[in-house]
Formats: sequence, structure tokens, C-alpha cells
Amino acid sequence: APRVVVLISGTGSNLQALIDAVNSGALTAEIPLVISNRSKVFGLERAEKAGIPSKVLALKPYTAAGRTRVEYDLDLAQLVIDAKPDLVVLAGFMHILSPEFLNQFPTTPLINLHPALPGQFDGAKAIERAFEAYQKGEIKHTGVMVHRVIQEVDGGEPVLVKEVEIKPEDDLAALQERIHSVEHVLLVQGAAIVLEEEAKKKSAA
Ligand code: GAR
Repeated sequence: APRVVVLISGTGSNLQALIDAVNSGALTAEIPLVISNRSKVFGLERAEKAGIPSKVLALKPYTAAGRTRVEYDLDLAQLVIDAKPDLVVLAGFMHILSPEFLNQFPTTPLINLHPALPGQFDGAKAIERAFEAYQKGEIKHTGVMVHRVIQEVDGGEPVLVKEVEIKPEDDLAALQERIHSVEHVLLVQGAAIVLEEEAKKKSAA
């Protein structure tokens, strides 16, 4: 089965969606490795529970030792490459990858999940910012996207986009919950689409 390496930074509910899809057969893939840039996050427990090896590589010890972000990114890239991925998924991975990282993956696709519509609320705390914008009357709805990773943060070509409604009675928690449940479906679908494309490329080659 194609190998999907998943990078996380936190709770890992989207990692869980991938694990569940693999285990149920809904997604034909295996997850040989989970990498987190933060230790002790719940996503690492999810990996362990699923019997998936995981590694933690944090930026802080690098900068503390006077090493650069690029050195970190290249070590991170090597960990990913060693797992021989057919697809790399950023599932709540809150670290901006440098061109030097991305250059290590000339043929392997990378996708990212972002809890907003294309071009909106790039970066961290997108759901909070969308909720505030809704309250100010600046937006009527928000959304979720799975997109290809390019240099620009949350900026690559969308693979899948889904609108998510915001209801007048929503509080932030309600909106977060609605967005997360859409993400869990969209990420699995997005991974399946990209893996399918890769399989076609390989059979055509
Ligand atoms: C998700 O909402 C994901 O879209 C977001 O982090 C959360 C991770 O949740 N990613 C970004 O904001 C990327 N800019 P999880 O750890 O439960 O999967």
C-alpha cells in the first residue's frame, strides 16, 4: 500500500481520521511514521495506540545550539525521506517549511490541511480569526481546504475545498467543532485523490 507520512504538532484529531480510514479500509494506505515538532502532544499517543512509530524533532534545541532553521528543516526532511513516503501530509503541523525542505521532495507530493477557505486567514488561529470576522459582518461563511504545499503559507493549489456555514447562535467552540468534523472527512478524501493521481502517474510511466 502507498506510504503516507504524517506531520503533526498537536491533538492529532486529523491524524486519527487518517488512522481510522486506513484501519477501516476506506483509505488504501499505510502510515509508516508520524513526526511531531512538539513532544508530549496527544497526537503522539494516538500514533502509539495505533502501533505507528513516531519521532519528535523540535526546532528549539537547534536554535538554542546556534544552528539554523534550515539545518532543522534538512534533518526533518531526512526523517521523512527515510520513511520512503508516497505522500506527506501536514495535519496540523504548525511550522513553516523552508524552500530547502521543499526542495528535498521534487517528486513526492505534500499536502496541508487548513481550516479556512483559500486565501483566507493563513497561518495559525484561522478558526478564531474567521469567527471574529463573522461577528464583525466581514464574512458570511468559512471553510476548510486541503492544498498542495508550496512556499507561501497555506497557499498552494487546492485539492479540495469545502464551505462551512457559521450560524448566528454559534460560539467559537461550536464553529471549531463543525470545522473539525469537516476536516476529518476532507483530509482523508484529499489524501485519496492525491494517492490516486500518483498511482496513475506510476502506471503511465
Ligand atoms: C486543524 O484544524 C488544522 O486544520 C490546523 O490545525 C488543526 C490541527 O488539529 N492547521 C492549521 O491551522 C495550518 N495552518 P488536530 O491536531 O486535531 O488534527
